Amino acid sequence: MSNAVVVGLQWGDEGKGKVTDILAPKSDIVVRYQGGNNAGHTVVSGDITLKLHLIPSGIMHENVTCLMGDGTVIDPIVLAGEVENLQSNGWSCENLRVSGNAHVILPYHIRMDEAQEQARGAAKIGTTMRGIGPAYCDKAQRMPEPVRVWDLLNRDRLAQRVKTQLAEKNAMFEHVYGVETMTLEEVIDPILPALAEFKDRVVDGRALVYDYMDRGCNVLFEGAQGTFLDLDHGTFPYVTSSHPIAGGACVGIGVGPKDIHQVVGVAKAYTTRVGAGIFITEQDNEAGDTIRERGREYGTTTGRPRRCGWLDAVVLRTSTRINGVTAIALTLVDVLDAFETLPVCVAYEVDGKRLEHVPSDQDALARAKPIYEELPGWKASTAEATCWDDLPENAKSYINAISDLTNTPIGLVGVGPDRAQTICLPALDW
Ligand code: GDP
Ligand code: IMO
Ligand code: MG
Repeated sequence: MSNAVVVGLQWGDEGKGKVTDILAPKSDIVVRYQGGNNAGHTVVSGDITLKLHLIPSGIMHENVTCLMGDGTVIDPIVLAGEVENLQSNGWSCENLRVSGNAHVILPYHIRMDEAQEQARGAAKIGTTMRGIGPAYCDKAQRMPEPVRVWDLLNRDRLAQRVKTQLAEKNAMFEHVYGVETMTLEEVIDPILPALAEFKDRVVDGRALVYDYMDRGCNVLFEGAQGTFLDLDHGTFPYVTSSHPIAGGACVGIGVGPKDIHQVVGVAKAYTTRVGAGIFITEQDNEAGDTIRERGREYGTTTGRPRRCGWLDAVVLRTSTRINGVTAIALTLVDVLDAFETLPVCVAYEVDGKRLEHVPSDQDALARAKPIYEELPGWKASTAEATCWDDLPENAKSYINAISDLTNTPIGLVGVGPDRAQTICLPALDW
C-alpha cells in the first residue's frame, strides 16, 4: 500500500490533471481533497481531450474509484453537466462518488462572488466567479442550517436550508452590495434536474478512504490550484479560499500525515498565473507572449490569457518545503524548445539582502527583485523524447539545475500534453 498526493507547486495549471491521469492506473482510488470548479484539469490521450473541473482526473480509468472529498465544494449543476458530458463521450461515471460532507455551491454564492469582486474595485482578486470564496466563507462562518451534499438527497430539507441561507444573503445583497436579491425558486429550480446524479453517489467520504486503506490499496490524492494560491501560505489575499498544499489532503479527507507516503509536486518548466497578485518573474513582453502561444496558456476554466514568466526557483524551493515534496513532476518542458537562453530566478533581493525563500511578509515580497542566472536553451524539439537519453544535453542540464536548486529529485518530465509525451524517472516511485 502506498498513498501519494499530487500537488501544484506554483499558481495552478501546472499539469496536475495530466500527472493524476498518469498515476491513476496504479491507484485504486483518486480523491480530490479541496477546491471546486474553479479548477480546470486537462487530460489528453490521442484525439480525446477532457477538461475536468470537479471530477477527479482518474475518471478515464473505469476500474479506479473517483471521490470528491469532504474538503471540496460542489456546484451540483456543474457536477451533473460534467457527468453528462463524460457519459456522452462513453465513460459511465459509475466509479464516481461524492462525499456527503462536502459543502454545496448555490447560485447565491456566485452572485456574492460577483458582488464582492465588484466591491473590491481596483483590488479585485480576479476570481473564477464560481462562488468558491463565498461557499468556503459560509462553512468557516458556521452558518446555521448549512447546505452540504447530504442535503441534496432530500428536497424538503434542501428547500428549508436554502430558505435560511437566503435570509442572510438577501440582507447582504440589498443592504451591503446593492445588488438584486434572489427568490427561493431562483435558487432551487435550476438545481432540481441535477439532483438525480447524487442519489447513488453520495457516501461517507472519509469512511470510503479508510476502507481502501484498510484493504491495502493505493490512494492518490489530487490537489487543485497551487501552493501559492493556498489561503495560509499563498500570496494573500490574492489566493483561493481552500488549502491546495499537500497537508490540505489530511484536512480535506481526514487522514493523518503518516498516511501520506509520497508527495508529487507538479511544476511547469516556467511560471504562469491567472488573476491578480504578485508575480516576480512575470514577462509582460515578447518572451511571455512566446510562452503563452507555445504553451497554449489560456485558462481552462475561464479562458483568460495566463500571465507568463520565467521559472522562479525561489517559489519552487519554498513550495517543495511547504509540501514535503518527494519528487517533482516537471511539465511543459517542450514549451521552452524555442529559446536561445533561459533565465531562472535563483534568489530574491529584498532591501539589499539576498533571500533564498519566498518571504511570508507580503510587503517584503512586493519589494523583491529577481536575481537571475541564465541557462543555455537547447533549440531543438523535445516533443518526441520518450526517455531521459532522448533529451538534448542542455534540456537535461536545465532539468538537473531545477533539481539542484530545490534539492528535490525529478520524477517525471512532460514534453507535450498527451499522456504518451511523458518521461517517468526512478524518483517517481509509483
Ligand atoms: P492543471 O490545472 O494543473 O491540471 O493544469 P491545466 O490542465 O489547467 O493546464 C495545463 C495545460 O498544459 C493543459 O492544457 C495540458 O494539456 C497541458 N500540458 C500538460 N503537460 C504538458 C506538457 O508537458 N507539455 C505541453 N505542451 N502541454 C502540457
Ligand atoms: P487549477 O486546479 C489557476 C485563481 C483565480 C484567482 C484566485 C481566486 O486548474 O490549477 P477563486 O475562484 O478560487 O476564488 O479565485 O485563484 N485560481 C486558479 N488559477 N488554476 C486554478 O485551478 C485556479 N483556481 C483558482 O484565477 O486568481
Ligand atoms: Mg488548471
